[in-house]
Amino acid sequence: MKGLGLVLATFFASRGLATDNILTPEKLEADIKLEELERNLWNLDRIARENGGSRAFGLPGYQASVNYILERAQTRFGAQYDTLVQPFNHTFAQVLSISVTGPDGEAVDVVPLIYNPGTDAGPISAPLVDTPVDDARGSACFEDQWQGIDATGKLALVKRGTCAISDKLKLAKAHGAVGVILYNNVAGTPSSATLGAENVGLLVPVGTIYQDIGESWRTRLAAGEELVVGLSVDSVFEERETWNVIVETKEGDPNNVIVLGAHLDSVQAGPGINDDGSGTSALIEIMTALRSYSGFANKVRFAWWGAEESGLIGSLYYTSNLSEEEADRIRFYFNYDMVGSPAPVFAVYTGDNPGDLTGAEPLRDYLSAAGRDAYFGSFGSSSDYVGFLELGIPSSGIFTGAGAPADPCYHLACDTISNVDLEALTTNARAAAVVAAGMALSLDGVPPRNKTSLNPRGSRNNIRAQFDKWKRAAKHASTEKSCSHKEKSTV
Ligand SMILES: *[C@@H]1O[C@H](CO)[C@@H](O)[C@H](O)[C@H]1NC(C)=O
Ligand SMILES: *[C@@H]1O[C@H](CO)[C@@H](O)[C@H](O)[C@H]1NC(C)=O
Ligand SMILES: *[C@@H]1O[C@H](CO)[C@@H](O)[C@H](O)[C@H]1NC(C)=O
Ligand SMILES: [Zn+2]
Repeated sequence: MKGLGLVLATFFASRGLATDNILTPEKLEADIKLEELERNLWNLDRIARENGGSRAFGLPGYQASVNYILERAQTRFGAQYDTLVQPFNHTFAQVLSISVTGPDGEAVDVVPLIYNPGTDAGPISAPLVDTPVDDARGSACFEDQWQGIDATGKLALVKRGTCAISDKLKLAKAHGAVGVILYNNVAGTPSSATLGAENVGLLVPVGTIYQDIGESWRTRLAAGEELVVGLSVDSVFEERETWNVIVETKEGDPNNVIVLGAHLDSVQAGPGINDDGSGTSALIEIMTALRSYSGFANKVRFAWWGAEESGLIGSLYYTSNLSEEEADRIRFYFNYDMVGSPAPVFAVYTGDNPGDLTGAEPLRDYLSAAGRDAYFGSFGSSSDYVGFLELGIPSSGIFTGAGAPADPCYHLACDTISNVDLEALTTNARAAAVVAAGMALSLDGVPPRNKTSLNPRGSRNNIRAQFDKWKRAAKHASTEKSCSHKEKSTV
C-alpha cells in the first residue's frame, strides 16, 4: 500500500495535479494550530456553561459534546469519515444536595462524591467516633483497623487516602456506622471521586470535608469531648443511556487500524477542559487535518469515549464487545487524556508489552526534539487504555499530570478554559499527529496483538464480570429509587 501511494503520487504528478494531498507526518504536523485547539476548548467550556456547569455522563452537557463532534465528523466530513455512535447504558447517580453540620451547629464545606448513597431516612445527626490513622496501609481500610471501635449508630471520622473510599465505607457499614465523615489527606479543596456503580447498595453515605476541619474534630475527640455532627445527602440513582463516538477514515486497510482515544465526558464537578477537553480537542484537530490527505495504507480511527469518569465504562464496553478478529485488526491504541495541564510533565506511556515502544519511542523523540522533558511512565488503571492493554494491543499515549502541581484544578469546577497550557497542548497534539501519520503510512515493526502475556481471555472475562456487577447494581438502584420515593411520599 505504501507502493500504491507512490504510484498515485506519480499518477497525479504526471497528470499535472498537485501531490499536496499525499499524507506525510510533516504536513499533518503543520496543520495543527494552537488557535483551533483553543477554539474547541472554548466551545467545550461554553457547552458546560450552558448546561449546568459540566459535560458529565447522563447530563445534557454530554449530549451537547457528542453533537459538537458529530457536527464535524458526520455533517462536515461525511465524505472522508464513517461515524458510529455506540450506545450503552450505565447507572447514573447525582447528589442533588449535601450538607455537613459541625458540632457547634456550623455548616461545613463538603465535596460531593459520585454514587454517594442518600440519607433516605432523613438527615443524620449522630455522635462522631474516630478511627485510627494509618498512612502506610490506609486508614480504616482493613477489618483489623476497626477492632475495638464502637461505631454502631454513629458517624465514623475517617482519613482519606491509600485504599478506595468505597472500602472504607463498606467496613463502616459492617461496623454499624450510619455514615462516614471523610476528611481529606492533603490541604486544599478535596477532589471529587466516584464510589463506583458496582457498590450501589453496599455503602453508607459519606460527607467529604477539608483536612483541617477533620483534624480539629479529631483533636477534640481525643480530648474526651462528645461531638454530635449532622450529615444530609439527597441522591438520585437511575439507568441512563450514553454514547461512544467512533469515527474512522474511509481510506486505509480495515485489517490494520490505528486507534486514537480521548474521553468526551467530564466529572459532574466542572467543565473538564484539561480533563479531557484537551485530548478531545487534539483528536478533533487531527481528524480535521487528516481529511485533506490520502495515500495512506492503514485506517485511522478516532474514539471519543463516554462515561470514563464513572469508571472507564465506555472504553471497557467497546473493548469487551470486540470479537477476537476485530481486536486483531486494531494494531495500536494511543490514549490522550489530560494533555494540556497548566504545569505540564510529559509522560509517555509504556507497559510490559514490547510492542508499546513502537508508538512510545516516536512520541518521546518528538517531544524531546521539541525541547520538552519527556520520559517514559507506566500505565496505571485510571484511563481508557485499560481495555486495550487487557487485549494485548500495543499501546501508548501522553499524560501531562493530574492534581497539584501539574493540574491543581483536576476534577474541580476551575478546570476551565484558563486551566490549559495551550503551548503544551499544541506540542502534544502535533506529536500525536506525527506518530499517527507515521503508522497510517506504515506499520513496519509494529508487532501483532500479544495474546500470550496478558491472558486476554481471562481479562476479558473479568471485564464482562464487571459489567454483570454493574447490571446487578443498576437493578438495585432502580428498586432503591422506588423505595426512597415511597418513603418520601409518606413523610
Ligand atoms: C438502555 O436502556 C433502555 C431502557 O431500559 C433500553 O431501551 C435500551 O435498549 C438500552 N440500550 C442499550 C444499548 O442497552
Ligand atoms: C457486541 O454487541 C452487539 C450488540 O449488543 C452484540 O450483538 C454482539 O454479540 C457483541 N459482540 C461481542 C463480541 O460481545
Ligand atoms: C508479550 O508480552 C510479554 C510481557 O507481558 C513479553 O514478555 C512477551 O515477550 C511478549 N510477547 C511478544 C510476542 O511480544
Ligand atoms: Zn480524564
